[in-house]
Amino acid sequence: MSGINYSEKIPNNVNLVSDRTLQRALEHWQPHFIEWWKGMGPSDFQSADVYLRTATSVDAQGWATYGTVKMPDYRWGIFLADQQADRKIGFGDQMGQPVWQQVPGEYRSTLRRLIVTQGDTEPASVEQQRLLGHTCPSLYDLRNLFQINVEEGRHLWAMVYLLHAYFGRDGREEAEELLARHSGDADKPRILTTFNEPISDWLSLFCFTYFTDRDGKYQLKSLAESAFDPLSRTCRFMLTEEAHHMFVGETGLGRVVKRTLEVMKEIGSDDPGKVRAAGAVDLPTLQKYLNFWCSSSLDLFGSEISSNSAANFANGLKGRPDETQYEDHVLRSSTFKMGTPAGTEEVPMLNALNEVMRESYLKDCEIGLKRWNRQIERAGFPFRLTLPSSRFRRTIGAWAGQSVDPQGKMLSKEEYENKLHSWIPSEADRAFVHSLMRKVVEPGKMAAWIAPPERGINNLAVGYEYVKLH
Ligand SMILES: [Fe+2]
Ligand SMILES: [Fe+2]
Repeated sequence: MSGINYSEKIPNNVNLVSDRTLQRALEHWQPHFIEWWKGMGPSDFQSADVYLRTATSVDAQGWATYGTVKMPDYRWGIFLADQQADRKIGFGDQMGQPVWQQVPGEYRSTLRRLIVTQGDTEPASVEQQRLLGHTCPSLYDLRNLFQINVEEGRHLWAMVYLLHAYFGRDGREEAEELLARHSGDADKPRILTTFNEPISDWLSLFCFTYFTDRDGKYQLKSLAESAFDPLSRTCRFMLTEEAHHMFVGETGLGRVVKRTLEVMKEIGSDDPGKVRAAGAVDLPTLQKYLNFWCSSSLDLFGSEISSNSAANFANGLKGRPDETQYEDHVLRSSTFKMGTPAGTEEVPMLNALNEVMRESYLKDCEIGLKRWNRQIERAGFPFRLTLPSSRFRRTIGAWAGQSVDPQGKMLSKEEYENKLHSWIPSEADRAFVHSLMRKVVEPGKMAAWIAPPERGINNLAVGYEYVKLH
């Protein structure tokens, strides 16, 4: 694997050929990445020809170049959004000063931690999803899964590039560790809990891409504001790819709702047992999956009251998503009314930024639910899907371990435990969903529990053979 011509093999816009040290570091890491991909990436489909989008440059023509490729030959590239001339720090105590092209010594370990934590989620999700190909509902969906997987691989490359290029030896060690931790591993798990949850069915995949990739969007948006310019530019480009991952989640769940409504009309009943018997996902079960993945993803924003988020903001390391939409970018004199189990507390705004981000995230999550509820309403059924309260089933922050129902109401511990499996999937619910998961690989055919998409990829037909299996 040595002697790779990086200018050919690794598309990049960081002038890799001009930096021998960096090139050597990446040459050393690259075979470890491929080994990881073959061992921990999509199981059994490494020789399939997959219709994939590859970024070959950051401009409008190059960022989405489509072609057929075997996944291990995917050209994982390193791309940063174009540098903005005279970019200034947009928030915090150093607002208005020029952004940094190198890592300031005093923020080195914090920035490294932020990059490692983001980087860790990328290969983690590939590991979580590695067996899903065996139960794909269609070739269209299989291709979308693999598109997400290779792009998460590219996001890992993006973070490893930053570690190698700006953090010297510790950065190289962290890059190795990113391949050594594994999702769900008892000894060396991934850093964040949500990324250790198994994703063993496609309903979970659609929830994960709807809720957890959306958390990714918010994290990337807040890092895109960073005063460390290479991090900002890296995250800005990653966001273009992230949009497709959330598209898969939103349209995937929408197609599940559509199919379920068709079945409910066919059988003339909304009885969950009858809907299940007819081979579709009943809406109460879908609600449980939404509750599970939404609450799990809410933890990713961290504690309600956080001195780390305050320091990261004040120092210019991590802003709020879309920082320019706010008026006050320093936040030294504003406060936030925070609901905690002990009552409402007034806390410095700087310490409440995780909660600010969580609230705007939940608003973004509402958009899909409104659409699905319109579908249900139009079909004439009274059921409505909802998001759980941000206090439900939390394991981090002020509400951790509290007995709160999905509406946000405090219950006794006993009542909570008795009812928990009416709110999140039980073993029986999971077994039912698993029973629906059968591989469908005839071009254009869909599994019975999901409606076809409205259109194919890149103007191709839905029935196009997006994955050629051998
Ligand atoms: Fe990602
Ligand atoms: Fe993603």
